[in-house]
Amino acid sequence: MSDRLYIFDTTLRDGEQVPGCQLNTIEKIQVAKQLEQLGVDVIEAGFPISSPGDFNSVVEISKAVTWPVICALTRAKEKDIDCAAESLKYAKRKRIHTGIGTSDYHIKYKFNSTREAILQEAVDAVKYAKKYVEDVEFYAEDAGRTDNEYLARVVEAVIKAGATVVNIPDTTGYCLPEEYGAKIKYLMEHVDGIDKAIISTHCHNDLGLATANTLSGVLNGARQVEVTINGIGERAGNTSEEEIAMILKCHKLGIDTNINTRKISGISRLVSSLMNMPVQPNKAIVGRNAFAHSSGIHQDGVLKNVQTYEIIDPKEIGLDDNSIILTARSGRAALKYRLGVLGVKIEDEDHLNEIYQKFLKVADRKKEVTDDDILVLAGADRSANHHIKLDYLQVTSGVGLRPVASLGLDIAGEKFEACASGNGPVDAAVKALKNIIKKEMTLKEFTIQAISKGSDDLGKVHMQVEYKGHNYYGFGANTDIIAASVEAYIDCINKFRN
Ligand code: KIV
Ligand code: ZN
Repeated sequence: MSDRLYIFDTTLRDGEQVPGCQLNTIEKIQVAKQLEQLGVDVIEAGFPISSPGDFNSVVEISKAVTWPVICALTRAKEKDIDCAAESLKYAKRKRIHTGIGTSDYHIKYKFNSTREAILQEAVDAVKYAKKYVEDVEFYAEDAGRTDNEYLARVVEAVIKAGATVVNIPDTTGYCLPEEYGAKIKYLMEHVDGIDKAIISTHCHNDLGLATANTLSGVLNGARQVEVTINGIGERAGNTSEEEIAMILKCHKLGIDTNINTRKISGISRLVSSLMNMPVQPNKAIVGRNAFAHSSGIHQDGVLKNVQTYEIIDPKEIGLDDNSIILTARSGRAALKYRLGVLGVKIEDEDHLNEIYQKFLKVADRKKEVTDDDILVLAGADRSANHHIKLDYLQVTSGVGLRPVASLGLDIAGEKFEACASGNGPVDAAVKALKNIIKKEMTLKEFTIQAISKGSDDLGKVHMQVEYKGHNYYGFGANTDIIAASVEAYIDCINKFRN
Protein backbone atom coordinates (compact mmCIF):
# COMPACT_ATOMS: atom_id res chain seq x y z
CA MET A 1 0.00 0.00 0.00
CA SER A 2 1.35 3.42 -0.84
CA ASP A 3 1.79 6.28 1.57
CA ARG A 4 -0.33 9.38 1.30
CA LEU A 5 1.40 12.73 0.85
CA TYR A 6 -0.67 15.77 1.82
CA ILE A 7 -0.54 18.78 -0.49
CA PHE A 8 -0.59 22.10 1.37
CA ASP A 9 -1.14 24.85 -1.18
CA THR A 10 0.17 28.27 -0.21
CA THR A 11 -0.35 30.05 -3.56
CA LEU A 12 -2.77 32.44 -1.86
CA ARG A 13 -0.43 33.23 1.05
CA ASP A 14 3.30 32.76 0.38
CA GLY A 15 2.72 32.84 -3.40
CA GLU A 16 0.71 36.00 -3.20
CA GLN A 17 3.50 37.88 -1.40
CA VAL A 18 5.12 38.59 -4.78
CA PRO A 19 5.20 42.39 -5.23
CA GLY A 20 2.65 43.51 -7.80
CA CYS A 21 0.81 40.16 -7.95
CA GLN A 22 -1.84 40.71 -5.29
CA LEU A 23 -5.30 39.33 -5.97
CA ASN A 24 -8.60 40.73 -4.78
CA THR A 25 -11.01 38.57 -2.78
CA ILE A 26 -13.09 37.55 -5.81
CA GLU A 27 -9.99 36.40 -7.66
CA LYS A 28 -8.77 34.49 -4.60
CA ILE A 29 -12.10 32.67 -4.34
CA GLN A 30 -11.83 31.75 -8.03
CA VAL A 31 -8.35 30.27 -7.42
CA ALA A 32 -9.44 28.52 -4.19
CA LYS A 33 -12.34 26.80 -5.99
CA GLN A 34 -9.97 25.54 -8.66
CA LEU A 35 -7.52 24.33 -6.00
CA GLU A 36 -10.39 22.33 -4.54
CA GLN A 37 -11.04 20.79 -7.98
CA LEU A 38 -7.33 20.07 -8.32
CA GLY A 39 -7.55 18.02 -5.13
CA VAL A 40 -5.25 19.86 -2.71
CA ASP A 41 -5.61 18.86 0.95
CA VAL A 42 -4.98 22.23 2.57
CA ILE A 43 -5.41 25.79 1.28
CA GLU A 44 -3.41 28.42 3.15
CA ALA A 45 -5.81 31.28 2.53
CA GLY A 46 -3.90 34.19 4.06
CA PHE A 47 -2.26 35.93 7.01
CA PRO A 48 -5.38 37.49 8.57
CA ILE A 49 -3.75 40.00 10.93
CA SER A 50 -1.64 41.47 8.13
CA SER A 51 -4.51 43.42 6.52
CA PRO A 52 -8.32 43.67 6.45
CA GLY A 53 -8.14 42.36 2.85
CA ASP A 54 -6.32 39.20 3.94
CA PHE A 55 -8.75 38.70 6.82
CA ASN A 56 -11.72 39.05 4.50
CA SER A 57 -10.21 36.64 1.97
CA VAL A 58 -9.84 33.93 4.62
CA VAL A 59 -13.49 34.48 5.64
CA GLU A 60 -14.79 34.32 2.06
CA ILE A 61 -12.62 31.36 0.99
CA SER A 62 -13.82 29.50 4.11
CA LYS A 63 -17.41 30.01 2.93
CA ALA A 64 -16.70 29.13 -0.71
CA VAL A 65 -14.71 25.92 -0.29
CA THR A 66 -15.94 22.66 1.24
CA TRP A 67 -13.44 19.85 1.12
CA PRO A 68 -9.88 21.15 1.76
CA VAL A 69 -8.74 22.28 5.19
CA ILE A 70 -8.56 26.10 5.31
CA CYS A 71 -5.45 27.36 7.04
CA ALA A 72 -4.58 30.84 8.37
CA LEU A 73 -1.04 32.00 9.19
CA THR A 74 -0.02 33.78 12.40
CA ARG A 75 3.09 34.81 14.26
CA ALA A 76 3.51 33.33 17.76
CA LYS A 77 1.38 36.14 19.18
CA GLU A 78 -1.99 35.89 20.90
CA LYS A 79 -3.53 38.78 18.93
CA ASP A 80 -2.53 37.09 15.62
CA ILE A 81 -4.05 33.79 16.77
CA ASP A 82 -7.28 35.47 17.96
CA CYS A 83 -7.58 37.14 14.56
CA ALA A 84 -6.88 33.91 12.63
CA ALA A 85 -9.47 31.99 14.69
CA GLU A 86 -12.08 34.68 13.97
CA SER A 87 -11.30 34.63 10.22
CA LEU A 88 -11.75 30.84 10.12
CA LYS A 89 -15.17 30.79 11.72
CA TYR A 90 -16.97 29.63 8.54
CA ALA A 91 -14.40 26.98 7.57
CA LYS A 92 -15.75 23.43 7.58
CA ARG A 93 -12.25 22.11 8.39
CA LYS A 94 -9.81 24.62 9.85
CA ARG A 95 -6.17 24.92 10.83
CA ILE A 96 -4.11 27.64 12.50
CA HIS A 97 -0.49 27.84 11.30
CA THR A 98 1.60 29.54 13.96
CA GLY A 99 5.34 29.74 14.49
CA ILE A 100 8.53 31.61 15.19
CA GLY A 101 12.12 31.85 13.90
CA THR A 102 14.40 29.20 15.41
CA SER A 103 17.77 29.81 13.72
CA ASP A 104 20.39 31.72 15.70
CA TYR A 105 20.12 34.51 13.09
CA HIS A 106 16.45 34.97 13.97
CA ILE A 107 16.88 34.44 17.71
CA LYS A 108 19.77 36.86 18.03
CA TYR A 109 19.12 39.54 15.41
CA LYS A 110 15.37 39.47 14.85
CA PHE A 111 14.19 38.77 18.41
CA ASN A 112 17.23 39.67 20.52
CA SER A 113 16.27 36.63 22.58
CA THR A 114 17.58 33.21 23.67
CA ARG A 115 16.94 29.65 22.52
CA GLU A 116 15.11 28.81 25.77
CA ALA A 117 12.83 31.85 25.56
CA ILE A 118 11.96 31.13 21.93
CA LEU A 119 11.17 27.48 22.75
CA GLN A 120 8.78 28.67 25.46
CA GLU A 121 7.09 31.14 23.08
CA ALA A 122 6.64 28.34 20.54
CA VAL A 123 4.95 26.09 23.10
CA ASP A 124 2.76 28.92 24.42
CA ALA A 125 1.61 29.80 20.88
CA VAL A 126 0.63 26.21 20.08
CA LYS A 127 -1.25 25.86 23.39
CA TYR A 128 -3.03 29.14 22.77
CA ALA A 129 -4.06 28.13 19.22
CA LYS A 130 -5.28 24.77 20.56
CA LYS A 131 -7.96 26.66 22.53
CA TYR A 132 -9.56 27.52 19.19
CA VAL A 133 -8.88 24.57 16.87
CA GLU A 134 -7.83 20.94 17.09
CA ASP A 135 -5.60 21.16 14.01
CA VAL A 136 -2.56 23.35 14.78
CA GLU A 137 0.49 23.51 12.55
CA PHE A 138 3.74 24.94 13.92
CA TYR A 139 6.48 26.44 11.69
CA ALA A 140 10.09 26.81 12.79
CA GLU A 141 11.05 29.70 10.53
CA ASP A 142 14.55 29.37 9.02
CA ALA A 143 14.67 25.72 10.14
CA GLY A 144 16.98 25.19 7.15
CA ARG A 145 19.72 27.06 9.07
CA THR A 146 18.67 25.93 12.55
CA ASP A 147 20.96 23.63 14.51
CA ASN A 148 19.39 20.13 14.31
CA GLU A 149 19.70 19.34 18.00
CA TYR A 150 17.88 22.51 19.05
CA LEU A 151 15.33 22.08 16.24
CA ALA A 152 14.55 18.58 17.53
CA ARG A 153 13.91 20.00 21.02
CA VAL A 154 11.53 22.61 19.59
CA VAL A 155 9.70 20.02 17.47
CA GLU A 156 9.33 17.65 20.42
CA ALA A 157 8.02 20.43 22.67
CA VAL A 158 5.43 21.73 20.20
CA ILE A 159 4.16 18.20 19.49
CA LYS A 160 3.78 17.70 23.25
CA ALA A 161 1.86 21.01 23.32
CA GLY A 162 -0.55 19.66 20.72
CA ALA A 163 0.82 20.52 17.25
CA THR A 164 -0.66 18.15 14.66
CA VAL A 165 1.70 19.21 11.87
CA VAL A 166 5.25 20.60 12.17
CA ASN A 167 6.62 22.63 9.30
CA ILE A 168 10.38 22.71 8.66
CA PRO A 169 10.87 25.71 6.32
CA ASP A 170 14.04 26.33 4.40
CA THR A 171 13.06 30.00 4.47
CA THR A 172 16.12 31.31 2.67
CA GLY A 173 16.42 28.46 0.14
CA TYR A 174 19.91 27.73 1.44
CA CYS A 175 19.94 23.95 2.02
CA LEU A 176 21.36 21.29 -0.27
CA PRO A 177 19.04 18.33 -0.96
CA GLU A 178 21.11 15.88 1.14
CA GLU A 179 21.33 18.36 3.98
CA TYR A 180 17.59 19.05 4.00
CA GLY A 181 16.78 15.32 3.73
CA ALA A 182 19.21 14.58 6.58
CA LYS A 183 17.49 17.24 8.72
CA ILE A 184 14.10 15.55 8.26
CA LYS A 185 15.68 12.13 8.94
CA TYR A 186 17.31 13.48 12.11
CA LEU A 187 13.93 14.71 13.36
CA MET A 188 12.22 11.41 12.47
CA GLU A 189 14.87 9.54 14.49
CA HIS A 190 15.43 11.87 17.45
CA VAL A 191 12.06 13.39 18.35
CA ASP A 192 9.97 11.57 20.92
CA GLY A 193 6.33 11.47 19.82
CA ILE A 194 7.14 12.26 16.15
CA ASP A 195 4.48 9.69 15.14
CA LYS A 196 1.82 11.97 16.67
CA ALA A 197 2.41 14.71 14.07
CA ILE A 198 3.00 15.08 10.35
CA ILE A 199 6.30 16.64 9.28
CA SER A 200 5.95 19.19 6.50
CA THR A 201 8.43 20.60 3.99
CA HIS A 202 8.38 24.28 2.97
CA CYS A 203 11.22 25.05 0.57
CA HIS A 204 12.20 28.27 -1.17
CA ASN A 205 13.94 28.33 -4.50
CA ASP A 206 16.79 30.83 -4.04
CA LEU A 207 19.37 28.33 -5.31
CA GLY A 208 16.97 26.55 -7.68
CA LEU A 209 16.76 23.60 -5.27
CA ALA A 210 13.23 23.90 -3.88
CA THR A 211 11.80 20.87 -5.70
CA ALA A 212 14.90 18.73 -5.05
CA ASN A 213 14.88 19.67 -1.35
CA THR A 214 11.16 18.96 -1.02
CA LEU A 215 11.57 15.56 -2.64
CA SER A 216 14.51 14.79 -0.40
CA GLY A 217 12.37 15.72 2.63
CA VAL A 218 9.60 13.40 1.44
CA LEU A 219 12.01 10.52 0.84
CA ASN A 220 13.18 10.94 4.43
CA GLY A 221 9.76 10.91 6.05
CA ALA A 222 7.93 14.22 5.50
CA ARG A 223 4.28 13.57 4.60
CA GLN A 224 3.10 17.09 3.81
CA VAL A 225 4.59 19.46 1.22
CA GLU A 226 3.97 23.21 1.07
CA VAL A 227 3.87 24.30 -2.54
CA THR A 228 2.53 26.92 -4.94
CA ILE A 229 1.10 26.82 -8.45
CA ASN A 230 3.83 27.72 -10.99
CA GLY A 231 6.28 27.86 -8.06
CA ILE A 232 5.35 31.48 -7.43
CA GLY A 233 6.46 33.22 -4.27
CA GLU A 234 8.72 35.93 -2.95
CA ARG A 235 12.20 36.23 -4.49
CA ALA A 236 12.87 33.04 -6.50
CA GLY A 237 9.61 31.48 -5.34
CA ASN A 238 8.43 28.36 -3.53
CA THR A 239 8.40 24.68 -4.50
CA SER A 240 6.32 24.19 -7.61
CA GLU A 241 3.18 22.13 -6.96
CA GLU A 242 2.95 20.72 -10.48
CA GLU A 243 6.56 19.50 -10.38
CA ILE A 244 6.02 17.55 -7.14
CA ALA A 245 2.70 16.11 -8.37
CA MET A 246 4.22 14.93 -11.66
CA ILE A 247 7.42 13.57 -10.09
CA LEU A 248 5.30 11.36 -7.85
CA LYS A 249 3.14 10.33 -10.79
CA CYS A 250 6.05 9.50 -13.10
CA HIS A 251 8.21 7.71 -10.54
CA LYS A 252 6.65 4.89 -8.59
CA LEU A 253 7.99 5.82 -5.17
CA GLY A 254 5.07 4.34 -3.24
CA ILE A 255 3.89 7.83 -2.32
CA ASP A 256 0.63 9.22 -3.72
CA THR A 257 -1.19 12.53 -3.67
CA ASN A 258 -4.83 13.36 -4.23
CA ILE A 259 -3.99 15.70 -7.14
CA ASN A 260 -6.05 15.36 -10.33
CA THR A 261 -3.14 16.14 -12.64
CA ARG A 262 -5.49 16.85 -15.56
CA LYS A 263 -6.40 20.11 -13.84
CA ILE A 264 -2.77 21.32 -13.70
CA SER A 265 -2.60 23.17 -16.99
CA GLY A 266 -5.87 25.08 -16.40
CA ILE A 267 -4.99 26.29 -12.92
CA SER A 268 -1.46 27.19 -13.98
CA ARG A 269 -2.85 29.50 -16.67
CA LEU A 270 -5.51 30.89 -14.36
CA VAL A 271 -2.98 31.83 -11.67
CA SER A 272 -0.55 33.26 -14.22
CA SER A 273 -3.28 35.33 -15.79
CA LEU A 274 -4.92 36.63 -12.60
CA MET A 275 -1.56 37.49 -11.06
CA ASN A 276 -0.20 38.93 -14.31
CA MET A 277 2.80 36.74 -13.78
CA PRO A 278 4.10 35.09 -16.93
CA VAL A 279 5.27 31.47 -16.69
CA GLN A 280 8.82 31.14 -18.03
CA PRO A 281 8.54 29.32 -21.39
CA ASN A 282 10.92 26.51 -20.40
CA LYS A 283 9.36 25.96 -16.94
CA ALA A 284 9.03 22.23 -16.19
CA ILE A 285 5.49 20.83 -16.72
CA VAL A 286 3.65 24.12 -17.39
CA GLY A 287 5.98 26.23 -19.55
CA ARG A 288 4.72 26.70 -23.08
CA ASN A 289 7.79 24.89 -24.45
CA ALA A 290 7.57 21.98 -21.98
CA PHE A 291 6.16 19.69 -24.68
CA ALA A 292 7.44 21.44 -27.82
CA HIS A 293 9.96 19.45 -29.80
CA SER A 294 11.71 21.55 -32.41
CA SER A 295 14.89 19.70 -33.28
CA GLY A 296 14.62 17.43 -36.31
CA ILE A 297 16.08 14.44 -34.43
CA HIS A 298 13.51 14.80 -31.65
CA GLN A 299 10.59 15.27 -34.04
CA ASP A 300 11.59 12.18 -35.97
CA GLY A 301 11.83 10.12 -32.75
CA VAL A 302 8.53 11.41 -31.38
CA LEU A 303 6.74 10.60 -34.66
CA LYS A 304 8.08 7.01 -34.56
CA ASN A 305 7.24 6.48 -30.89
CA VAL A 306 6.21 9.32 -28.63
CA GLN A 307 7.99 7.80 -25.62
CA THR A 308 11.36 8.22 -27.36
CA TYR A 309 11.58 11.79 -26.08
CA GLU A 310 8.41 12.39 -24.05
CA ILE A 311 8.12 11.18 -20.44
CA ILE A 312 4.69 12.73 -19.83
CA ASP A 313 1.64 12.57 -22.08
CA PRO A 314 0.54 16.25 -22.27
CA LYS A 315 -3.05 15.07 -21.73
CA GLU A 316 -2.04 13.95 -18.23
CA ILE A 317 -1.67 17.60 -17.22
CA GLY A 318 -4.82 18.61 -19.11
CA LEU A 319 -3.27 19.94 -22.30
CA ASP A 320 -5.70 18.94 -24.99
CA ASP A 321 -4.65 19.34 -28.60
CA ASN A 322 -8.21 19.27 -29.92
CA SER A 323 -9.38 22.35 -28.06
CA ILE A 324 -11.99 24.53 -29.73
CA ILE A 325 -10.49 27.39 -31.73
CA LEU A 326 -12.26 30.63 -31.03
CA THR A 327 -12.67 33.15 -33.84
CA ALA A 328 -14.82 36.22 -34.55
CA ARG A 329 -17.63 33.81 -35.54
CA SER A 330 -17.66 32.01 -32.18
CA GLY A 331 -20.67 32.65 -30.01
CA ARG A 332 -21.14 33.32 -26.31
CA ALA A 333 -21.73 29.63 -25.57
CA ALA A 334 -18.37 28.60 -27.05
CA LEU A 335 -16.61 31.34 -25.11
CA LYS A 336 -18.37 30.34 -21.88
CA TYR A 337 -17.53 26.66 -22.47
CA ARG A 338 -13.85 27.36 -23.14
CA LEU A 339 -13.56 29.61 -20.07
CA GLY A 340 -15.18 26.83 -18.03
CA VAL A 341 -12.56 24.33 -19.26
CA LEU A 342 -9.89 26.83 -18.19
CA GLY A 343 -11.41 27.05 -14.72
CA VAL A 344 -13.30 30.34 -15.04
CA LYS A 345 -16.98 29.75 -14.34
CA ILE A 346 -19.15 32.62 -15.58
CA GLU A 347 -22.63 32.41 -14.02
CA ASP A 348 -23.86 35.92 -14.72
CA GLU A 349 -25.15 36.70 -18.24
CA ASP A 350 -24.20 40.40 -18.07
CA HIS A 351 -20.67 39.48 -17.08
CA LEU A 352 -20.46 36.98 -19.94
CA ASN A 353 -21.72 39.63 -22.32
CA GLU A 354 -19.08 42.10 -21.11
CA ILE A 355 -16.27 39.57 -21.71
CA TYR A 356 -17.84 38.62 -25.06
CA GLN A 357 -17.77 42.25 -26.26
CA LYS A 358 -14.04 42.47 -25.38
CA PHE A 359 -13.52 39.09 -27.06
CA LEU A 360 -15.13 40.34 -30.29
CA LYS A 361 -12.79 43.35 -30.38
CA VAL A 362 -9.75 41.08 -30.08
CA ALA A 363 -11.20 38.54 -32.54
CA ASP A 364 -11.65 41.34 -35.09
CA ARG A 365 -7.91 41.93 -34.95
CA LYS A 366 -6.72 38.32 -34.60
CA LYS A 367 -7.49 35.27 -36.70
CA GLU A 368 -7.61 32.93 -33.71
CA VAL A 369 -8.17 33.90 -30.10
CA THR A 370 -6.09 31.70 -27.78
CA ASP A 371 -6.77 30.40 -24.28
CA ASP A 372 -4.28 32.89 -22.87
CA ASP A 373 -6.04 35.76 -24.63
CA ILE A 374 -9.44 34.89 -23.18
CA LEU A 375 -7.99 34.43 -19.71
CA VAL A 376 -6.66 37.97 -19.90
CA LEU A 377 -10.05 39.20 -21.12
CA ALA A 378 -11.88 37.36 -18.35
CA GLY A 379 -9.51 38.71 -15.66
CA ALA A 380 -11.07 41.20 -13.29
CA ASP A 381 -11.49 44.50 -15.06
CA ARG A 382 -8.94 46.50 -13.13
CA SER A 383 -9.89 49.72 -14.90
CA ALA A 384 -13.53 49.63 -13.73
CA ASN A 385 -12.84 51.56 -10.50
CA HIS A 386 -10.05 53.67 -11.90
CA HIS A 387 -10.15 57.36 -11.22
CA ILE A 388 -7.96 58.05 -14.27
CA LYS A 389 -8.84 56.36 -17.58
CA LEU A 390 -7.27 56.44 -21.03
CA ASP A 391 -9.70 58.07 -23.46
CA TYR A 392 -7.67 57.88 -26.66
CA LEU A 393 -4.12 57.53 -27.88
CA GLN A 394 -2.60 58.33 -31.25
CA VAL A 395 1.06 57.75 -32.02
CA THR A 396 3.01 58.51 -35.17
CA SER A 397 6.34 56.80 -35.54
CA GLY A 398 8.56 55.38 -38.24
CA VAL A 399 12.09 55.24 -39.56
CA GLY A 400 13.56 58.78 -39.90
CA LEU A 401 10.72 60.31 -37.85
CA ARG A 402 10.72 61.53 -34.28
CA PRO A 403 7.75 59.72 -32.66
CA VAL A 404 4.87 61.95 -31.55
CA ALA A 405 1.97 60.93 -29.31
CA SER A 406 -1.28 62.67 -28.51
CA LEU A 407 -3.32 61.33 -25.69
CA GLY A 408 -6.63 62.00 -23.93
CA LEU A 409 -7.41 61.17 -20.31
CA ASP A 410 -10.65 61.05 -18.38
CA ILE A 411 -9.94 62.05 -14.78
CA ALA A 412 -13.02 61.54 -12.64
CA GLY A 413 -15.23 62.56 -15.59
CA GLU A 414 -13.15 65.58 -16.67
CA LYS A 415 -11.33 65.44 -20.03
CA PHE A 416 -7.66 66.35 -20.54
CA GLU A 417 -5.46 66.25 -23.66
CA ALA A 418 -1.73 66.54 -24.27
CA CYS A 419 0.91 65.68 -26.83
CA ALA A 420 4.65 65.09 -26.74
CA SER A 421 7.52 63.72 -28.76
CA GLY A 422 10.01 61.15 -27.53
CA ASN A 423 12.89 58.94 -28.52
CA GLY A 424 10.47 56.08 -29.19
CA PRO A 425 6.68 55.66 -29.36
CA VAL A 426 6.35 54.52 -25.71
CA ASP A 427 8.57 57.38 -24.53
CA ALA A 428 6.42 59.88 -26.49
CA ALA A 429 3.18 58.44 -25.05
CA VAL A 430 4.52 58.44 -21.47
CA LYS A 431 5.76 62.03 -21.86
CA ALA A 432 2.30 63.09 -23.09
CA LEU A 433 0.81 61.35 -20.05
CA LYS A 434 3.23 63.19 -17.77
CA ASN A 435 2.24 66.51 -19.36
CA ILE A 436 -1.19 65.92 -17.82
CA ILE A 437 -0.25 64.09 -14.60
CA LYS A 438 2.46 66.35 -13.24
CA LYS A 439 3.83 64.17 -10.47
CA GLU A 440 7.44 63.25 -9.60
CA MET A 441 7.23 59.63 -10.70
CA THR A 442 9.95 57.37 -12.07
CA LEU A 443 9.60 54.32 -14.25
CA LYS A 444 11.70 51.61 -12.57
CA GLU A 445 10.81 48.47 -14.48
CA PHE A 446 9.08 47.85 -17.79
CA THR A 447 8.52 44.43 -19.35
CA ILE A 448 6.64 43.64 -22.53
CA GLN A 449 5.53 40.13 -23.34
CA ALA A 450 3.59 38.76 -26.29
CA ILE A 451 1.16 36.17 -24.99
CA SER A 452 1.80 33.41 -27.49
CA LYS A 453 3.36 33.55 -30.88
CA GLY A 454 1.78 35.62 -33.63
CA SER A 455 2.37 39.24 -34.62
CA ASP A 456 -1.35 39.81 -34.00
CA ASP A 457 -0.98 38.76 -30.35
CA LEU A 458 -2.21 40.56 -27.27
CA GLY A 459 0.82 42.18 -25.66
CA LYS A 460 1.09 42.27 -21.88
CA VAL A 461 2.98 45.03 -20.13
CA HIS A 462 4.13 45.04 -16.50
CA MET A 463 5.43 48.24 -14.98
CA GLN A 464 6.90 49.37 -11.73
CA VAL A 465 6.70 53.11 -11.01
CA GLU A 466 8.24 54.81 -8.01
CA TYR A 467 6.36 57.67 -6.40
CA LYS A 468 7.19 59.31 -3.04
CA GLY A 469 9.49 56.47 -2.07
CA HIS A 470 6.97 53.69 -2.77
CA ASN A 471 6.87 51.23 -5.65
CA TYR A 472 3.59 50.70 -7.49
CA TYR A 473 2.94 47.87 -9.94
CA GLY A 474 0.71 48.15 -12.99
CA PHE A 475 -0.47 45.96 -15.84
CA GLY A 476 -1.90 46.50 -19.32
CA ALA A 477 -2.94 44.10 -22.10
CA ASN A 478 -3.76 45.22 -25.62
CA THR A 479 -3.04 44.19 -29.20
CA ASP A 480 -1.45 47.66 -29.45
CA ILE A 481 1.69 47.44 -27.34
CA ILE A 482 1.98 51.24 -26.95
CA ALA A 483 -1.59 51.38 -25.61
CA ALA A 484 -0.81 48.45 -23.27
CA SER A 485 2.20 50.40 -21.97
CA VAL A 486 0.18 53.53 -21.29
CA GLU A 487 -2.57 51.44 -19.63
CA ALA A 488 0.04 49.85 -17.36
CA TYR A 489 1.43 53.29 -16.43
CA ILE A 490 -2.09 54.58 -15.68
CA ASP A 491 -2.75 51.41 -13.62
CA CYS A 492 0.25 52.36 -11.44
CA ILE A 493 -0.87 55.99 -11.06
CA ASN A 494 -4.35 54.90 -10.00
CA LYS A 495 -2.75 53.02 -7.12
CA PHE A 496 -0.80 56.00 -5.73
CA ARG A 497 -1.76 56.54 -2.12
CA ASN A 498 -1.54 60.33 -2.14
O1 KIV B 1 9.30 30.59 4.41
C1 KIV B 1 8.83 30.56 5.56
O2 KIV B 1 9.52 30.36 6.55
C2 KIV B 1 7.40 30.82 5.70
C3 KIV B 1 6.80 30.60 7.05
C4 KIV B 1 6.05 31.81 7.50
C5 KIV B 1 5.94 29.37 7.04
O3 KIV B 1 6.73 31.14 4.75
ZN1 ZN C 1 7.81 30.67 2.86
